[in-house]
Amino acid sequence: MSTIPNHNQYKNIGIAGLGAIGSAVMHALTSEDGINEMQLECISDPYTQNHFDVDNVSFEELAERCDLIIECLPADVVPDLAKIVFKAGKDILFISSAALLIDPQILKNLHRSESRAYLPSGALCGLDGVVGMREMGITSSTITSTKPPKGFAGAPYVIENDIGLDAITEKTQIFEGDAYDAAKGFPANVNVAATLSLAGIPAHQTRVEIWADPKAKGNTHEITVKSNYSTLVSRIENLPDPANIKSSSLAAQSIVATLRNMGSKLAIY
Ligand SMILES: NC(=O)c1ccc[n+]([C@@H]2O[C@H](COP(=O)([O-])OP(=O)(O)OC[C@H]3O[C@@H](n4cnc5c(N)ncnc54)[C@H](O)[C@@H]3O)[C@@H](O)[C@H]2O)c1
Repeated sequence: MSTIPNHNQYKNIGIAGLGAIGSAVMHALTSEDGINEMQLECISDPYTQNHFDVDNVSFEELAERCDLIIECLPADVVPDLAKIVFKAGKDILFISSAALLIDPQILKNLHRSESRAYLPSGALCGLDGVVGMREMGITSSTITSTKPPKGFAGAPYVIENDIGLDAITEKTQIFEGDAYDAAKGFPANVNVAATLSLAGIPAHQTRVEIWADPKAKGNTHEITVKSNYSTLVSRIENLPDPANIKSSSLAAQSIVATLRNMGSKLAIY
C-alpha cells in the first residue's frame, strides 16, 4: 500500500508563554483545520490566568514531551528555556529575536547542540529579499520603527533616559543606534531590528531608528537594505494586537505560516 509522504517532521508541539502570541498560535493549532498533523502536546506558562484544556508543565517537561517548542515569552526568560531545550536536543522556534542579541550565549549554545532553531519574520516583511541579498553581500541595512508613544512604555532605554512618553506631542525620534543597543534598550518593542540583523548583516552594522508618533494608529517598520546589485525597501503597517499593544497580530500569524510551511508540499520562503 502506498502512503503519501508526510513532509512535516514535527508531531508534538509545545508552546512556552501563553500571552497574546502564544494564545493565537495555540488557537491555530487546535482549530478544526489544525496545522498539518501537528498536535499541541502541552504548554508552559505558570502566570497565565486562562484555563486551557491542555497540560501546563515546566520547561523541562515541555522539552521532554515535545519535538518542537514555540517560544512566546518575555525576552529575559528566553535564555532559561533555550538552555533546557538545547540540553534535550529538541528544536525550537524563537519569536523573541531580541533575546538572541541580548544574550549571545543562546546562539553559541545552539551551534554546540543537536537542536535546530527557526526564526519567523514576526512583525517584519521583506526578509525573503534580505536573505537572498545576503548571498550577494549586503552593504548597508537600516530599519526605522514607528509606534504610538505608549507602545514603548517600560522599555529600559526609555526609563534610563527619563523619556516622558506622555509629553510627546509630535513625531519624535527617541533612539538611533545599532541593533544590539536597540535590543537591549527595547527588548519588547523592536524584535524586528534583531530579526533584520540576524537575517542580514551583523547587529553592530544594522542601523536602527525608533520614533514615537502620537498620531500613529499602529506599528510601522520600514527597512532599506542595499547590496551592489539590489536595493530593497519594504514597509509594513501593523495595527497593535488588541491582546498586547506592544505586539502585532502579524507576529503570531508568521509563526502559524512557518509551521504550515514545514509540512507543505509547496513551501514558500
Ligand atoms: N519577532 C517579532 O516580530 C515579535 C513581534 C511581537 C512580539 N514579539 C515578542 O514575542 C514575545 C511574546 O509576545 P506576546 O505579545 O505574546 O507577550 P505577552 O506578554 O502577551 O505574553 C508573554 C507570556 O509569557 C508568560 N511568561 C512570563 N514569564 C514566564 C515564564 N517564566 N515561564 C513561562 N511563561 C512565562 C506570561 O505569563 C505571558 O502569558 C515577546 O518577547 C515579544 O517581545 C516578537
